Amino acid sequence: MNVHGKHYRTIWLKEDDDTVVQIIDQRPLPHKFVIEDLHTVDDVARAIKDMHIRGAGLVGATAGYGMYIAALHAPKDSAEAFTAQLVADGEKLKATRPTAVNLEWAVHRQLDAIAAVGDNIDTKIAAAKNIAQTIADEDADFCRRIGEHGVSIIEEISKRKNGEPVNILTHCNAGWMAFVDYGTATAPIYAAHDRGIPVHVWVDETRPRNQGARITAWELNEHGVPHTVIADNVGGHLMQHGMVDMVIVGTDRTLYTGDVANKIGTYLKALAAHDNGVPFYVALPSSTFDWTKRDGVKEIPIEERGADEVKYINGLYNGEVVSVLLTPADSPATNYAFDVTPARLVTGLITERGICDASEEGVLGLYPEKRK
Ligand code: MRU
Repeated sequence: MNVHGKHYRTIWLKEDDDTVVQIIDQRPLPHKFVIEDLHTVDDVARAIKDMHIRGAGLVGATAGYGMYIAALHAPKDSAEAFTAQLVADGEKLKATRPTAVNLEWAVHRQLDAIAAVGDNIDTKIAAAKNIAQTIADEDADFCRRIGEHGVSIIEEISKRKNGEPVNILTHCNAGWMAFVDYGTATAPIYAAHDRGIPVHVWVDETRPRNQGARITAWELNEHGVPHTVIADNVGGHLMQHGMVDMVIVGTDRTLYTGDVANKIGTYLKALAAHDNGVPFYVALPSSTFDWTKRDGVKEIPIEERGADEVKYINGLYNGEVVSVLLTPADSPATNYAFDVTPARLVTGLITERGICDASEEGVLGLYPEKRK
């Protein structure tokens, strides 16, 4: 990703001190670009829970680096004490956000790799560092490949429209900032734009934290992709009037049966798309698949966040990012952060291995090694 023309990832080890992890703090975006240092497991847990970073892939990559930091600080007197501390730190990280499956996936990948290298503590720390970097590199590579597969769908629609701009609606931010680079929902969009295929993106604002209005719009702006921010309730109207050619969203957990958990409001967009014959695609790396559950509505844990995220709204005032009260001070509010879109409403899944149906046969066809 490019910010003011300079290439960044969303997370990296500090150049002159590889015991420090650096992230882009997403809270003040798009108004301020702030880089934050993370030194301890508590810093990492806070960064995930309070959403300094966010998005399925980046939450996973941050947990991977968090386990490396845990390894640096764990007791070194015995392999047992070292491992016990890592398991405890892994639990602490996993408790920060329940819906994104990449978080537990990254923690367990680290614990398995650290256990596999024997009892020497220095070797274990080196393994943790190596796996953290590998998770980040894989995330970026998988997202790039998602772009290469997904661009074919946009290309086809563009041909059908004789080169008229392809109108794509997206919800939340499944872009650069939700991953290590490229993004998932945005990767095919960037690939199309870079190949000269005219695209225009309808950006759902995505209340309550406005990841669309703040972050997706900022990214598209930085990359020069034509886009328009819309209030969350507009998509259905646009679809009824033929103003949306396709929807692409990301996901925080997708079951191998095809049910998709994503940012709250995604389900309503899928219903509107279904009613209007608009193709509805979900883009994800394989780290976001949950291979254990079958029924998304019944089995996926849905994170509930604080009421203040609904009651207050952030914005720029006199050069400072401030928070203002939106509702009557005494009105209660509730804040479900995700919902589940049943597989029957999903046209296809765009993965690093290709595009498949949102069904058990489709997913296992692409990932045959996961057949039980
Ligand atoms: O609560 P967030 O911002 O971490 O939500 C996760 C997401 O980024 C979205 O649900 C996104 O659409 C999924 S793809 C990372």
